[in-house]
Amino acid sequence: MTRVARTRSSRASGGSRRAGAPNRPEAPRPDYQDRDPDTRVYVGDCRRVLDALPEARDGVVDLVFADPPFNWNRDYDRLGDTDAGDADRTWTDDLPREDYLAFTRRWIDLCAAALRPGGTFWINIPDDTAAEIVVHLKSVRRFDLANWCIWHYRFGQNRRSGFIGSKVHALCFVKPGAPRTWNPEPILEPSDRASVYADPRTQSKRDGLPPGLRVPMDVWYGPWWGRVQGNNRERRTGHDNQLPEAYLERVILSTSNAGDLVLDPFLGSGTTGTVARAYGRRFIGVEFSERNAASAWERITGIGMIAKGRALGRANPIFPARGKGNARSAVRSVST
Ligand SMILES: C[S@@+](CC[C@H](N)C(=O)[O-])C[C@H]1O[C@@H](n2cnc3c(N)ncnc32)[C@H](O)[C@@H]1O
Repeated sequence: MTRVARTRSSRASGGSRRAGAPNRPEAPRPDYQDRDPDTRVYVGDCRRVLDALPEARDGVVDLVFADPPFNWNRDYDRLGDTDAGDADRTWTDDLPREDYLAFTRRWIDLCAAALRPGGTFWINIPDDTAAEIVVHLKSVRRFDLANWCIWHYRFGQNRRSGFIGSKVHALCFVKPGAPRTWNPEPILEPSDRASVYADPRTQSKRDGLPPGLRVPMDVWYGPWWGRVQGNNRERRTGHDNQLPEAYLERVILSTSNAGDLVLDPFLGSGTTGTVARAYGRRFIGVEFSERNAASAWERITGIGMIAKGRALGRANPIFPARGKGNARSAVRSVST
């Protein structure tokens, strides 16, 4: 395995151009790199990195997962120390609305171009900007909306002025031009009919799926699906926007194949890269903060998934099991 030493001169965000190739920026060098499977992290503004990255320019990425800054005035580099002059390492998260929307459209367009036809584009976004993103990708970029999922968590910020936020949108788009990758088998779970109602009809279904199992619904929740906080074993110090492994596990297993190329333009603590690598996908991540990138790299290549497969195949009904057969024991064992 080869690890590329990070040097400032290798920074991906430079965007310098080769003489004689005025329209083709020089390919950035990764700040971190490992092989088998090919795994790379670039430090910089994803707009600049993607503009110069050969895989993005050639449109060969199979899956993009993007969890962008929400423009909620968050400090995205909590490993730094603003009193020590580290403020410039943190992404400015309180842009004027129009600037934020222009930024959003730009990174979306670069990711859309990076995808191959049939490639899948996931975006994790709260209520504020979900509508704008859907309109842009559907009406302007002509992507298909395959699923509009909801990530539901029950540890939202308390407030009295309105209903407590308990969800983020997990938007799943497909680039037109080829069939998409869709693998429901590794993410199947016991249906409520099987786990709550012991309904015998679920044992003889005609949808081609194994008895008692179904594709998960489009609202995602459950024991391993909460926000990563407190003493959660998955938690990485200094990251308060970390997504649960279960979320990325469902995304990566269902919409990519082993060996595929996965891109995350907003790497954060590295959840996407960690899960992608654990399941044999190639991976490219981009992160603005040097410290976040270093932390993510340690996680992706050194620590790995904390609970691979833990959330797969579990029934998450909201009602207790009814009837005589203890239906809830219908949890299958999963091998992936
Ligand atoms: C919401 S967090 C991503 C969290 C990630 N999904 C995880 O599970 O840890 C967004 C990340 O994007 C980074 N970021 C913000 N603007 C960026 C940009 N223009 N280019 C690259 N990274 C950026 C922030 O520093 C932050 O780490």
